[in-house]
Amino acid sequence: MDSQMFDLARDAMAKAHAPYSRFHVGAVVKGANGRLYAGCNVENAAYPQGNCAETSAISAMVLDGETRIAEVLVMGAGEGLVTPCGGCRQRIREFATDDVPIHICSPDELRRTVTLGELLPLSFGPENLR
Ligand code: THU
Repeated sequence: MDSQMFDLARDAMAKAHAPYSRFHVGAVVKGANGRLYAGCNVENAAYPQGNCAETSAISAMVLDGETRIAEVLVMGAGEGLVTPCGGCRQRIREFATDDVPIHICSPDELRRTVTLGELLPLSFGPENLR
């Protein structure tokens, strides 16, 4: 994980729209093209309409014409590890293989790196529909 990824996630986290949970999350995905795409969580007064940070970052990547994820970083505060939620694991899976590293960070440091395969074993993906 490079420091640029970390810094972008921290900036994104600071911009989260999270007036309901007050839980700010920043995410950065690195495309196979080497570019970095940041996102933050965007909550909504109609609660289920809120978006996770990973969802926003993936949207930015797809908008840029990239559809392969090389690396992911998720950042959140608190004692527990802020890993991607179940829905976001599947959203990442759409564009990533099992070996893709996912860096779990606090705003201060890298806490742990896991792979997508560890977070979402035996997953269903685009290959199943080919
Ligand atoms: N959240 C994310 O943005 N990403 C995750 O991986 C976990 C949860 C957000 C959703 C919601 O806005 C807030 O954190 C509390 O669940």
